[in-house]
Amino acid sequence: MSSGDEAGLVGIAEKSLEYVREDTVVGLGTGRAATAFVRALGARVAQGFRIRGVPTSDSTGKLAMELGIPLVELADAGTLDVTLDGADEVSPELDLIKGYGGALVREKVVAASSRRRVMLVGAEKLVDRLGSRGKLPVEIVPFAKPLCERELEKIGCRPKRRETNGVPFVTDNHNWILDCEIAPIADPPAFETRILAIPGVVGTGLFLGMANVVLVQDGDRVRVLERGGSTDR
Ligand code: A5P
Repeated sequence: MSSGDEAGLVGIAEKSLEYVREDTVVGLGTGRAATAFVRALGARVAQGFRIRGVPTSDSTGKLAMELGIPLVELADAGTLDVTLDGADEVSPELDLIKGYGGALVREKVVAASSRRRVMLVGAEKLVDRLGSRGKLPVEIVPFAKPLCERELEKIGCRPKRRETNGVPFVTDNHNWILDCEIAPIADPPAFETRILAIPGVVGTGLFLGMANVVLVQDGDRVRVLERGGSTDR
């Protein structure tokens, strides 16, 4: 069992419940770490804890319903109290790359609709510079693929449509993902601005200035990193 497995993320999943206040609406992330959190929350709900959730993907919504977590539409939720989600890279400033699981756009919408954002990761996700793992997912409108690929190449990315055996991966928004091969990013805000300027780009996996807290599963230990606070790296 490693911290990358859902079973290896139980420590941060339990710890994450400390950030969930009863009688509020919370954002439910997508991926292994978020799934560990949703399962822990479901166990709490089964004991009578009152909460409502906004899922960041159809798969998380299905899991939440199976666990008995009441769901609410984003349109009816107002401002969410907190969103708990995973991440693929975490920089020393707590900026993130997300979207290896393909739910980046809804994850960012739900995160931006929340007062606070708590991220759950294994220690292998901590990087010195965003882009260190070599991949940035970008969601695009399928019609725009040729243009997006050309423009992304001009700014130093090597985009490749996400697919399995030639079949494109389709997001919950009916779009495609271009996984961009990248080097560590010198200036993430400028890089994101350039990508978002390409017609047909719906969103990038860069989550800059969004995470308030990152819970890190480091073996048996849970480390708490706070924006502008402790950097227990
Ligand atoms: C989903 O689109 C992603 O942003 C996930 O939150 C991210 O990939 C982390 O997933 P894991 O917890 O499965 O590594």
